[in-house]
Amino acid sequence: MKHLLSTRDLSAASALRLLDVAEEMSAVGEREIKKLPALRGRTVVNLFFEDSTRTRISFEAAAKRLSADVINFAVKGSSVSKGESLKDTAQTLEAMSADAVVIRHPASGAPARLAASDWIDAAVINAGDGTHEHPTQALLDAFTLRRHWARIGGTPSAGTTLAGMKVLIVGDVLHSRVARSNVWLLTTLGAEVLLAGPPTLLPVGIGSWPCTVFYDLDEAIAQRPDAVMMLRLQAERMNAAFFPSTREYSRRWGFDDGRLALLDIMGLDDTVIMHPGPMNRGLEISAAADSPRSTILAQVRNGVSVRMAALYLLLSGDPHDDEPRDDE
Ligand code: CP
Repeated sequence: MKHLLSTRDLSAASALRLLDVAEEMSAVGEREIKKLPALRGRTVVNLFFEDSTRTRISFEAAAKRLSADVINFAVKGSSVSKGESLKDTAQTLEAMSADAVVIRHPASGAPARLAASDWIDAAVINAGDGTHEHPTQALLDAFTLRRHWARIGGTPSAGTTLAGMKVLIVGDVLHSRVARSNVWLLTTLGAEVLLAGPPTLLPVGIGSWPCTVFYDLDEAIAQRPDAVMMLRLQAERMNAAFFPSTREYSRRWGFDDGRLALLDIMGLDDTVIMHPGPMNRGLEISAAADSPRSTILAQVRNGVSVRMAALYLLLSGDPHDDEPRDDE
């Protein structure tokens, strides 16, 4: 595979391969010298047309740990403000020897457009496009879930699927590229996915998704999920007229202290709370973010390993061939 655009493109085998390589990359992160020479002489361009903290910095850290050179592009302060197109921007950056372009863009499909064009030869990685997909976020979520699932089952993560795991995704699914990428990936890996949210924030056609949909959060929690993934209410993608009352939203859809306590009452000792970040604290999540059940910072940590694996597999040639080695 030359590009990473959508989790729909990943077979179970290729997703597991990436997660297994990410486990090896994670071991590198535990060492005193957290660097491999695998991508020495390669250049990774971070092409971000939307704001980001986790994804951009995580890709930068991942590329640097693999010894690649990194060029960071942010639309603010760039010549995009003078009308420069995506094609011209991408070609300008590729002229500086890009081997991989990690692109975040507000338009759904922009990374696919770049990959399908003959504008550039570099590998394209989708770092979040509009409401469409955010594949590396889903991969790091799957990595985090797989470690948790393996820990509960007393087995090593490598090779393990998510078969038998029940994951509940809650909130603004309509605008969430994270939810879409997770639905496709988690079901590919064998998990059962439940979705819960207000009808106005669920996409048209959700009935054809491979999930069970709930319109009541407590009813969904009663299904005893192994993980609850809270989504941010994406005000920036909404028409203000449709923005829900925050108090009402928090009461009906927030993972508040009462719902955190409910997990204890139900004896769901191993259920974890996830959030891709950034969080709206007090809206979709509160104390749960800091509770021992939270995987939020583990997700961030795991993101570096997963992105190292993605860059390594895309740029090192045969993805099923070499293991990362110190002596490359
Ligand atoms: N989860 C995520 O994409 O966060 P950033 O917007 O900070 O990259």
